[in-house]
Amino acid sequence: MEKTNNGLRVILFPLPIQGCINPMLQLAKILHSRGFSITVIHTSFNAPKASCHPLFTFLKIEDGLSEIETRTRDVTLRLTILNRRCESPFRDCLTKLLRSSDSKTGEEKQRICCLIDDSQWIFTQALAKSLNLPRLALIATSVSFFRGHFVLPQLRRQRCLPVQDSEQVKEFLPHRKKDIYRLLAEKTEILDDYLNRIYETAKASSGLIFGSSCEELDQDSLTQARQEFQVPIFAIGPSHTRFTGSSSSLLTPDETCIPWLDRQEDKSVIYASFGSLVTIRESELLEIAWGLINSDRPFLWVVRVGSVNGTKWIEEIPEEVMEMLTEKGKIVKWAPQLDVLKHRAIGGYLTHNGWNSTVESICEGVPMICLPFYWDQMLNARFVSEVWMVGLHLENRIERNEIENAVRRLLLETEGEAIRERMELLKEKVGGSIKPNGSAYRSLEHLVDHISSF
Ligand code: UDX
Repeated sequence: MEKTNNGLRVILFPLPIQGCINPMLQLAKILHSRGFSITVIHTSFNAPKASCHPLFTFLKIEDGLSEIETRTRDVTLRLTILNRRCESPFRDCLTKLLRSSDSKTGEEKQRICCLIDDSQWIFTQALAKSLNLPRLALIATSVSFFRGHFVLPQLRRQRCLPVQDSEQVKEFLPHRKKDIYRLLAEKTEILDDYLNRIYETAKASSGLIFGSSCEELDQDSLTQARQEFQVPIFAIGPSHTRFTGSSSSLLTPDETCIPWLDRQEDKSVIYASFGSLVTIRESELLEIAWGLINSDRPFLWVVRVGSVNGTKWIEEIPEEVMEMLTEKGKIVKWAPQLDVLKHRAIGGYLTHNGWNSTVESICEGVPMICLPFYWDQMLNARFVSEVWMVGLHLENRIERNEIENAVRRLLLETEGEAIRERMELLKEKVGGSIKPNGSAYRSLEHLVDHISSF
């Protein structure tokens, strides 16, 4: 429902990661359509493309990241550095905005009613409080992961996790011990303190918004989170389905994959993509290449520039392998993922299970082959393969035979048909959540009322 300007302005501050920018800008579109004016404060690193969103005001702050820091593969480290360096420029920018909004009169007058920033900004809660500005935190992961991941420091202290144990971890279901071991094997010294701060600031906030979750995906965790955090919680569902059009992609998608898909048969193509952050070794690139070739199915494979350690792109793939790859499939540097997943030719998605990608796949009814790498991806993959049962799990093995077998099982065997049927049901349920009176629809109405009440 399009509404005229309500005289209120919302300030948004996304984390500069593709998987966090997308839900923030989707929320911006939703709030704008409900009458709010939008200002997006953003870092210079991974700055969103302002020209794609002419209705919003964009303000850049200097984040002070050096060239080397922008390239670090240690995301937690980068985030903690960003939190330190952005505090002062963000404070200056926000204070200026509040002052100038107070000084405006007449038709120009607009009240800044709240700040909505990513839950992983840990300095914004105290700042907003000092400025008497309500702050809501947007969370880009599932509710289950957000709730559960605060238990990680405790699990690390217990130090009782054998590497290969596939037993479940009762404190963080449906994770298995080996998933947790991989999570904790990551850079960790700085993680515990960072998690504690995220927890405290979330508890002190004026509300938590889950941009891509809904009761249909995360009901139990939502109930538990409401008890635990004691702040209003909004699960507004798969926001990307509410507005099509302008993309918030940081990289330019290669649109030639759509006419290529047009030439393929229905549900015959495997889409392979591992999001915006995952990096792999050259040997793993080759295993994936052989797995796709040997599966003998057409494929569309996204290999980001710089995502293969030690090489620029795919130049290290031997010529004869490259020939087979181009005969059977198409490799691009970045895809228009939403259009790809929607395409009738896509039959399955070999994915890292980032939360956005997982929900996008569900919304298009595309069954998955799960190859999670880190962070929330391992939990998302367990939900896909063991709770909703809408995909196969590679158990983290990047090995050609495993990939070939999974592609064949999913696209050619009756097991794949059963998975597809379950996926259709899940797609209907999740899609229904944003329809009038669906759970996400109602949650969004509450969110709009909540923000308007400030
Ligand atoms: C990160 C973490 O990796 C993820 O685990 C967490 O849930 C969110 O933050 P990212 O790796 O970028 O996200 O994965 P994901 O959440 O799947 O987001 C990627 C986004 O980029 C998706 O919205 C997807 O549609 C888009 N994308 C990806 C493209 O538009 N084109 C591509 O070629 C690949």
